[in-house]
Amino acid sequence: MTETEFIHRFEPAASAGSPPLLLLHGTGGDENDLLGLGKMISPGSALLSPRGRVLEHGMPRFFRRLAEGVFDEDDVRRRANELGEFVNAARQRYGIAAPVAVGFSNGANIAAALLLLKPEVLAGAILLRAMVPLSDPPKAELGGKPVLLLSGQADPIVPASNSAKLAALLSQAGASVTHRVLPAGHQLSQADLTLARDWIGNVDAKAA
Ligand code: MLT
Repeated sequence: MTETEFIHRFEPAASAGSPPLLLLHGTGGDENDLLGLGKMISPGSALLSPRGRVLEHGMPRFFRRLAEGVFDEDDVRRRANELGEFVNAARQRYGIAAPVAVGFSNGANIAAALLLLKPEVLAGAILLRAMVPLSDPPKAELGGKPVLLLSGQADPIVPASNSAKLAALLSQAGASVTHRVLPAGHQLSQADLTLARDWIGNVDAKAA
Protein backbone atom coordinates (compact mmCIF):
# COMPACT_ATOMS: atom_id res chain seq x y z
CA MET A 1 0.00 0.00 0.00
CA THR A 2 1.36 3.43 -0.92
CA GLU A 3 1.55 6.37 1.48
CA THR A 4 -1.68 7.82 0.18
CA GLU A 5 -3.69 4.60 0.21
CA PHE A 6 -6.10 3.73 3.00
CA ILE A 7 -8.51 0.81 3.15
CA HIS A 8 -11.79 2.64 2.64
CA ARG A 9 -15.39 2.62 1.49
CA PHE A 10 -16.78 5.11 -0.98
CA GLU A 11 -20.45 5.65 -1.70
CA PRO A 12 -21.33 8.09 -4.49
CA ALA A 13 -23.73 10.97 -3.91
CA ALA A 14 -27.41 10.09 -4.11
CA SER A 15 -28.38 13.69 -4.84
CA ALA A 16 -26.52 16.72 -6.13
CA GLY A 17 -25.91 19.69 -3.87
CA SER A 18 -25.06 17.86 -0.63
CA PRO A 19 -21.42 18.14 0.48
CA PRO A 20 -19.34 14.95 0.45
CA LEU A 21 -18.61 13.61 3.93
CA LEU A 22 -15.25 12.28 5.15
CA LEU A 23 -16.21 9.77 7.86
CA LEU A 24 -13.56 9.20 10.55
CA HIS A 25 -14.24 6.45 13.08
CA GLY A 26 -13.23 6.16 16.75
CA THR A 27 -10.62 3.81 18.26
CA GLY A 28 -11.38 0.20 17.35
CA GLY A 29 -13.77 1.16 14.57
CA ASP A 30 -13.38 0.72 10.84
CA GLU A 31 -14.51 2.04 7.47
CA ASN A 32 -18.01 0.61 7.92
CA ASP A 33 -18.77 2.18 11.30
CA LEU A 34 -20.00 5.63 10.39
CA LEU A 35 -21.71 4.97 7.03
CA GLY A 36 -25.11 4.78 8.74
CA LEU A 37 -24.42 7.96 10.71
CA GLY A 38 -23.34 9.77 7.53
CA LYS A 39 -26.57 8.75 5.75
CA MET A 40 -28.67 9.95 8.70
CA ILE A 41 -26.88 13.30 8.91
CA SER A 42 -26.88 14.04 5.17
CA PRO A 43 -28.88 11.50 3.11
CA GLY A 44 -27.73 12.62 -0.35
CA SER A 45 -24.01 13.04 0.34
CA ALA A 46 -21.14 11.07 -1.16
CA LEU A 47 -19.40 9.18 1.66
CA LEU A 48 -15.64 8.62 1.86
CA SER A 49 -14.77 6.44 4.83
CA PRO A 50 -11.15 5.38 5.47
CA ARG A 51 -9.89 2.96 8.11
CA GLY A 52 -7.22 4.35 10.46
CA ARG A 53 -3.77 2.90 9.67
CA VAL A 54 -2.42 2.74 13.23
CA LEU A 55 -3.13 -0.36 15.31
CA GLU A 56 -3.37 -0.23 19.11
CA HIS A 57 -3.65 -3.81 20.38
CA GLY A 58 -5.30 -4.64 17.06
CA MET A 59 -7.68 -1.67 17.19
CA PRO A 60 -7.52 0.75 14.24
CA ARG A 61 -6.85 4.42 15.03
CA PHE A 62 -5.80 7.47 13.04
CA PHE A 63 -2.64 8.23 15.10
CA ARG A 64 -0.57 6.82 17.95
CA ARG A 65 -1.15 7.79 21.56
CA LEU A 66 1.08 7.37 24.60
CA ALA A 67 -1.87 7.03 27.00
CA GLU A 68 -5.56 7.92 26.92
CA GLY A 69 -5.70 11.60 26.00
CA VAL A 70 -1.88 11.85 25.66
CA PHE A 71 -0.92 11.94 22.01
CA ASP A 72 2.28 11.18 20.09
CA GLU A 73 2.22 14.56 18.40
CA ASP A 74 4.89 13.74 15.79
CA ASP A 75 2.65 10.89 14.73
CA VAL A 76 -0.42 13.18 14.74
CA ARG A 77 1.37 15.45 12.26
CA ARG A 78 2.58 12.61 10.06
CA ARG A 79 -0.78 10.85 9.99
CA ALA A 80 -2.73 14.04 9.33
CA ASN A 81 -0.50 14.65 6.32
CA GLU A 82 -1.04 11.09 5.07
CA LEU A 83 -4.79 11.42 5.50
CA GLY A 84 -4.77 14.76 3.69
CA GLU A 85 -2.94 13.17 0.76
CA PHE A 86 -5.41 10.31 0.71
CA VAL A 87 -8.36 12.72 0.62
CA ASN A 88 -6.81 14.74 -2.21
CA ALA A 89 -6.14 11.58 -4.23
CA ALA A 90 -9.67 10.25 -3.52
CA ARG A 91 -11.18 13.56 -4.68
CA GLN A 92 -9.51 13.11 -8.07
CA ARG A 93 -10.36 9.43 -8.30
CA TYR A 94 -14.04 9.84 -7.40
CA GLY A 95 -14.55 13.38 -8.70
CA ILE A 96 -15.80 14.92 -5.45
CA ALA A 97 -15.48 18.37 -3.89
CA ALA A 98 -13.59 19.03 -0.65
CA PRO A 99 -15.47 17.07 2.02
CA VAL A 100 -16.93 18.01 5.37
CA ALA A 101 -15.29 15.73 7.95
CA VAL A 102 -17.55 13.88 10.38
CA GLY A 103 -15.27 12.48 13.07
CA PHE A 104 -16.00 10.67 16.31
CA SER A 105 -13.50 10.55 19.19
CA ASN A 106 -10.12 9.60 17.71
CA GLY A 107 -11.58 10.39 14.27
CA ALA A 108 -12.68 13.83 15.51
CA ASN A 109 -9.18 14.43 16.84
CA ILE A 110 -7.50 13.68 13.51
CA ALA A 111 -10.12 15.90 11.81
CA ALA A 112 -9.19 18.73 14.20
CA ALA A 113 -5.51 18.12 13.38
CA LEU A 114 -6.30 18.26 9.64
CA LEU A 115 -8.08 21.60 10.12
CA LEU A 116 -5.03 23.00 11.91
CA LEU A 117 -2.34 21.47 9.66
CA LYS A 118 -3.92 21.19 6.19
CA PRO A 119 -7.04 23.35 6.24
CA GLU A 120 -7.44 23.28 2.47
CA VAL A 121 -8.32 19.56 2.60
CA LEU A 122 -11.70 20.09 4.33
CA ALA A 123 -14.71 22.26 3.56
CA GLY A 124 -15.72 22.08 7.22
CA ALA A 125 -16.07 19.58 10.06
CA ILE A 126 -18.42 18.00 12.56
CA LEU A 127 -16.28 17.09 15.55
CA LEU A 128 -17.98 14.64 17.92
CA ARG A 129 -16.23 14.44 21.34
CA ALA A 130 -13.01 16.01 20.04
CA MET A 131 -10.04 17.27 22.04
CA VAL A 132 -7.06 19.53 21.30
CA PRO A 133 -4.84 17.36 19.07
CA LEU A 134 -1.61 19.39 19.21
CA SER A 135 -0.16 21.36 22.12
CA ASP A 136 1.62 23.80 19.82
CA PRO A 137 -0.31 23.97 16.55
CA PRO A 138 0.91 26.10 13.64
CA LYS A 139 -0.95 29.31 12.89
CA ALA A 140 -3.78 28.09 10.68
CA GLU A 141 -5.95 30.21 8.39
CA LEU A 142 -9.44 28.73 8.41
CA GLY A 143 -11.14 31.59 6.58
CA GLY A 144 -14.67 31.11 7.93
CA LYS A 145 -14.80 27.32 7.51
CA PRO A 146 -17.86 25.99 9.37
CA VAL A 147 -17.13 23.70 12.33
CA LEU A 148 -19.67 22.05 14.63
CA LEU A 149 -18.13 20.81 17.89
CA LEU A 150 -20.39 18.61 20.03
CA SER A 151 -19.09 17.72 23.49
CA GLY A 152 -20.52 15.64 26.34
CA GLN A 153 -20.79 17.37 29.69
CA ALA A 154 -20.07 14.06 31.49
CA ASP A 155 -17.36 12.86 29.07
CA PRO A 156 -14.74 10.96 31.13
CA ILE A 157 -12.15 11.25 28.31
CA VAL A 158 -12.52 14.91 27.25
CA PRO A 159 -12.53 17.48 30.10
CA ALA A 160 -14.80 20.51 29.50
CA SER A 161 -11.76 22.82 29.62
CA ASN A 162 -10.16 20.86 26.77
CA SER A 163 -13.10 21.07 24.37
CA ALA A 164 -13.53 24.78 25.23
CA LYS A 165 -9.86 25.27 24.37
CA LEU A 166 -10.30 23.50 21.03
CA ALA A 167 -13.31 25.72 20.21
CA ALA A 168 -11.23 28.82 21.05
CA LEU A 169 -8.25 27.59 19.03
CA LEU A 170 -10.36 26.97 15.93
CA SER A 171 -12.22 30.29 16.30
CA GLN A 172 -8.96 32.19 16.67
CA ALA A 173 -7.76 30.51 13.47
CA GLY A 174 -10.79 31.97 11.68
CA ALA A 175 -13.24 29.04 11.69
CA SER A 176 -16.93 29.70 12.17
CA VAL A 177 -17.37 27.48 15.24
CA THR A 178 -20.61 26.31 16.82
CA HIS A 179 -19.85 24.57 20.13
CA ARG A 180 -22.61 22.76 22.02
CA VAL A 181 -22.15 20.84 25.27
CA LEU A 182 -24.76 18.07 25.51
CA PRO A 183 -26.07 16.14 28.51
CA ALA A 184 -24.08 13.07 27.43
CA GLY A 185 -20.84 11.18 28.04
CA HIS A 186 -18.29 10.11 25.42
CA GLN A 187 -20.87 8.09 23.50
CA LEU A 188 -23.14 9.75 20.97
CA SER A 189 -26.75 10.58 21.78
CA GLN A 190 -29.83 11.29 19.68
CA ALA A 191 -29.16 15.01 20.22
CA ASP A 192 -25.83 14.66 18.37
CA LEU A 193 -27.61 13.31 15.30
CA THR A 194 -30.31 15.95 15.33
CA LEU A 195 -27.89 18.84 15.81
CA ALA A 196 -25.48 17.51 13.17
CA ARG A 197 -28.30 17.04 10.65
CA ASP A 198 -29.71 20.52 11.23
CA TRP A 199 -26.26 22.11 11.11
CA ILE A 200 -25.26 20.47 7.84
CA GLY A 201 -28.60 21.44 6.31
CA ASN A 202 -27.77 25.07 7.06
CA VAL A 203 -24.22 24.73 5.68
CA ASP A 204 -25.82 23.35 2.52
CA ALA A 205 -28.29 26.16 2.19
CA LYS A 206 -25.52 28.72 2.63
CA ALA A 207 -23.36 27.03 -0.01
CA ALA A 208 -26.21 26.77 -2.54
C1 MLT B 1 -7.79 9.62 21.27
O1 MLT B 1 -6.94 8.83 21.58
O2 MLT B 1 -7.88 10.14 20.16
C2 MLT B 1 -8.78 9.98 22.33
O3 MLT B 1 -8.31 9.57 23.57
C3 MLT B 1 -10.13 9.44 22.04
C4 MLT B 1 -10.11 7.94 21.96
O4 MLT B 1 -9.82 7.41 20.92
O5 MLT B 1 -10.41 7.28 22.97
